[in-house]
Amino acid sequence: MAVASKLSPVFPLGSRVNSRGRLEIGGCDTIELAGAFGTPVYVVAEDDLRARARAYLRAFRAAGVEDFQVTFAAKAFPCTAAMALFAQEGLGCDVASDGELHLALRAGFDPQMLVFHGNARSQAELGRAVAAGVGLIVIDNFDDIDRLEALGARQRVLIRVTPGVAGKTHAKISTGQADSKFGLGPADARRAIERVARVAGLDLVGLHMHIGSQLLDLAPYRAAIAVLGELGQFPVYDLGGGLGVAYSPDQRPPSIEELVGELAAAARALFGPGRRLLVEPGRSLVANGGVTLYTVQSLKRNVSTWVGVDGGMSDNLRPMLYGSHYEVEIADRLGGETVCHVTGKHCESGDVIVRGARLDDPRPGDILVTPATGAYGYAMANNYNGVPRAPVVFCSDGEARLVVRRETLDDLHVRDV
Ligand code: LLP
Repeated sequence: MAVASKLSPVFPLGSRVNSRGRLEIGGCDTIELAGAFGTPVYVVAEDDLRARARAYLRAFRAAGVEDFQVTFAAKAFPCTAAMALFAQEGLGCDVASDGELHLALRAGFDPQMLVFHGNARSQAELGRAVAAGVGLIVIDNFDDIDRLEALGARQRVLIRVTPGVAGKTHAKISTGQADSKFGLGPADARRAIERVARVAGLDLVGLHMHIGSQLLDLAPYRAAIAVLGELGQFPVYDLGGGLGVAYSPDQRPPSIEELVGELAAAARALFGPGRRLLVEPGRSLVANGGVTLYTVQSLKRNVSTWVGVDGGMSDNLRPMLYGSHYEVEIADRLGGETVCHVTGKHCESGDVIVRGARLDDPRPGDILVTPATGAYGYAMANNYNGVPRAPVVFCSDGEARLVVRRETLDDLHVRDV
């Protein structure tokens, strides 16, 4: 039997292989979790999420920033239990649609702690956010200003600036470049600043930027902050999210402390002291806290060895959209040398979760685990091929609790009229 000498650091904090050789998440045996809740299932180590939320708050205090808000980007994991946990920890929430706004209110966030984003919002959507009393609306385009004016909104707003600095990441998740669908370039941002000043109810308190996601290099943040610094002096700056995470041990993202230290220093140098700083982390709060469990259904050998599992692109679209690489292990036989492709059950050849995996002689019935699936997996889940979406289980101190149930077959036609 192959035994992994050391668990990969991309698993949730506190994960371990127990005396029976089985992976434990949040003190819960993953084989037992699969038995109790079925597969596929998203398993989240609650303490991992709390630890990362606290790390952000601590990092701001350590950097000497007196006025700040850590704002969870709900899109990364729009699960009300996770959102409620972050509300409890004192975080705010970034919402990018009235659906996410609805979830954030349901999760118990103080509306004043909400930041509302969007590049294509209707007047009705903006109106609902104003009526809900969201703390900040981030203006993305001139139509937003027209709509807020038409609503007669009394609202604090930020203007999203596209600094012309691209975060170094996959093209599909880079947003800071001049040719972006998000925000306004510096020249347009100046015009927007003047225009908002002429709208009676709008209180422009500052600027926003978000240059991209899964960023492993901090240098673009400072360059972008410098661009914002040239647009005038404001009391509030929201510097977005974007901190990358490790999906495999060879990836070495900056730590939360390094990111916040760099943002605080750059903001002090380029905006001046005493500004209120916001950040909007999504991935770095939730990615490594979650894993997905699958059951192997089939094994096929042709040119390659194909290990078919009971989920796939309906629960994790990231390998298909961005070519993202994930680690995978058999939950009770970690390590191994059988080179194989772990595939989903969907009717597409592209539905491969992990290419070139190494497993210990996989066979039907084995429970597989893919770590670092806490961000943008549940969020982008879908019902392709009529596959019901997977449940979410929170684990802490050996206790597991279901926070989102599995979809049923009847849920699949619940909207039929
Ligand atoms: N703030 C804004 C305005 C954003 O657009 C985003 C992410 C965030 C904050 C949070 O970024 P994070 O800290 O998670 O990098 N589906 C893609 C990621 C899309 C990110 C969209 N915006 C993926 O699975 O990689």
